[in-house]
Amino acid sequence: MRLLGKTVVVTGAATGIGRAIAERLSAEGAWVAITDRNEAGARQTANDICSNGRQAIAIRLDVMQSAEINEAIRRVLAERERLDIWVNNAGVSTMNRFLELTEEDWDFNMDVNAKGTFLCAQAAARQMVSQQPAENGLRGKIINIASMAGKRGNAPFLAHYVASKFAVVGLTQAMAGELAPHAILVNAVCPGYVRTSMQERELIWEASLRGISVADVQRLYINDTPLGRLESAEDVACVVSFLASDDANFITGESLNVNGGAWMD
Ligand SMILES: NC(=O)c1ccc[n+]([C@@H]2O[C@H](COP(=O)([O-])OP(=O)(O)OC[C@H]3O[C@@H](n4cnc5c(N)ncnc54)[C@H](O)[C@@H]3O)[C@@H](O)[C@H]2O)c1
Repeated sequence: MRLLGKTVVVTGAATGIGRAIAERLSAEGAWVAITDRNEAGARQTANDICSNGRQAIAIRLDVMQSAEINEAIRRVLAERERLDIWVNNAGVSTMNRFLELTEEDWDFNMDVNAKGTFLCAQAAARQMVSQQPAENGLRGKIINIASMAGKRGNAPFLAHYVASKFAVVGLTQAMAGELAPHAILVNAVCPGYVRTSMQERELIWEASLRGISVADVQRLYINDTPLGRLESAEDVACVVSFLASDDANFITGESLNVNGGAWMD
């Protein structure tokens, strides 16, 4: 129970990696606000967590809407004394050859993944700056879910997504530097090939773009991963739990690879 009593917000937590993070952090004792633009999905996740005797509430939050971000923080602080940890997980992807990429592809990926992370992180940091340090000496922690594609540009059909995730890795470093004097830590996690609904969509798009089967694309992902299997959402969630815990109180500006060895830089 290394997060006992901590107040956490997770974006995009209705499903996939965000849901696994919310489940893991609540199992570690945290009170978790499950936020998503999919309000029904957020409620389902929160209900499932509460039915296991843990603490969660659901809040509708589209990461591109500043008013919804501020309202979510207001609702959290109506129930809790402080905001300890904010996890920027919400993200989207589309796939296209670079020569066929549209402005729509670019804007959609950059708006949710890069701008959404910026808007949420800034709002969370403004709240944390206004708080007294907690017992561990910190005002708060921000954890961004970037991607292997935030470090490895050579990811076919994902130039726009790559750009959005490199932005998250860069933002993580810039924020970590500026917020360190306020005792706020900022880190990122970079997953590899994670089995979620995002991956299910990508398998179908990539199979079509390459003219091969979905099973063949899945084999490419596994062959690209030295540990020889697809990643689970829980593989990511336990590392987020580590960064959120007091075991990681001297780590900031880090973008941690959690990818089974698929990219080692
Ligand atoms: N699946 C992978 O292989 C993989 C790999 C590396 C990084 N990631 C990153 O992990 C994060 C989670 O991905 P996932 O695989 O769980 O995806 P997913 O599509 O399964 O789930 C994403 C969740 O984010 C929500 N969301 C989307 N846009 C939103 C918005 N504007 N505001 C609020 N919520 C929004 C969706 O409703 C959904 O619940 C993303 O940032 C993704 O880029 C995923």
